[in-house]
Amino acid sequence: MSRVAVLMGGTSGEREVSLKSGAAVSEALEALGHDVLIVDVGEDVVGQMVALQDKVDMAFITLHGRLGEDGTIQGLLELLAIPYIGSGVMASSMAIDKAMSKLIFRANAIPVAEDVMVKAREIRTLGVARVAEGIARDLGFPSIVKPNCEGSTLGVMIARNSQELETALAGAIEYDDLLLVERCIEGREMTVGLLGDEPRVLPVLEVVSQKGIYDYECKYNKGMTEYQVPAPISEELARGMQRLALRAHIAMGCEGLSRVDFMVDARENCYCLEINTIPGMTEFSLIPKAAAAAGLSFNQVVEEILATARLKISGGKRCYER
Ligand SMILES: Nc1ncnc2c1ncn2[C@@H]1O[C@H](COP(=O)(O)OP(=O)(O)O)[C@@H](O)[C@H]1O
Ligand SMILES: [Mg+2]
Repeated sequence: MSRVAVLMGGTSGEREVSLKSGAAVSEALEALGHDVLIVDVGEDVVGQMVALQDKVDMAFITLHGRLGEDGTIQGLLELLAIPYIGSGVMASSMAIDKAMSKLIFRANAIPVAEDVMVKAREIRTLGVARVAEGIARDLGFPSIVKPNCEGSTLGVMIARNSQELETALAGAIEYDDLLLVERCIEGREMTVGLLGDEPRVLPVLEVVSQKGIYDYECKYNKGMTEYQVPAPISEELARGMQRLALRAHIAMGCEGLSRVDFMVDARENCYCLEINTIPGMTEFSLIPKAAAAAGLSFNQVVEEILATARLKISGGKRCYER
């Protein structure tokens, strides 16, 4: 039995989801016999983590987005020598940055959608119409606009024409100073979860949303999305995607837990969208569903993730082992 702090909430746009993930994980940890301390992470995150130092053996992070999934809390836990689950500082901060992730993917022959990066400053100085015109020339339509460092589809919009592209760009700069505009891949959306230190590669899960884009509303409302796991695809395609997911996980330096998202076009080309280092753990979440298809209960998933708790930076690890 361990004393586990479950870190949830946080101050990012994904706070509500995180609270649900945290509640589900806490319940599982208690059922597994651990001593759980629930921590609703707020503005005084530093004070809150310092207070944990003598109280817990490890932290189970269920924070999503900024100041939770992006390496910052991981760095703080490293400094305090509190072991934590999942990826370390560098993998976390690279994975949350979509532009940086794509550099890593491209360098490792993991296919990604064509894209253009845009700074909010360019939009403000040149005007949204001129910037949109240039993007349309490079990428055509439809394209998809994303804030570089957000999650849960916040600020993500599909643009089918110049007007929509202008609206999407103007909306997305409210979320981030750097935007990624990608060619929209028309096809099916799939995801592959990875679990544990080995890691175990879970079956491919297909997401079928009623709205064409798997957005915030679909992600967190029952009935708006259907899931099929294992995805109804050929074994060859499934294996290929699982191999790509494992390569992405390793290339990024992820540890213990990740979920790699893909779009698959009509010719069965896979495009890696992103890698989530702290994927959702709510009742609607994809990792628990994919794990169930592999015969793992929610409690087993939580136990397997908990087993990855340690300090991840080697110097720190030496301290911890001593
Ligand atoms: N290039 C693309 N082509 C088609 N759909 C996309 C593309 N990129 C993203 N999407 C859709 O938008 C959703 C959110 O995009 P994603 O890159 O995963 O950002 P987030 O970090 O917000 O989850 C995806 O789940 C998918 O439905
Ligand atoms: Mg995503």
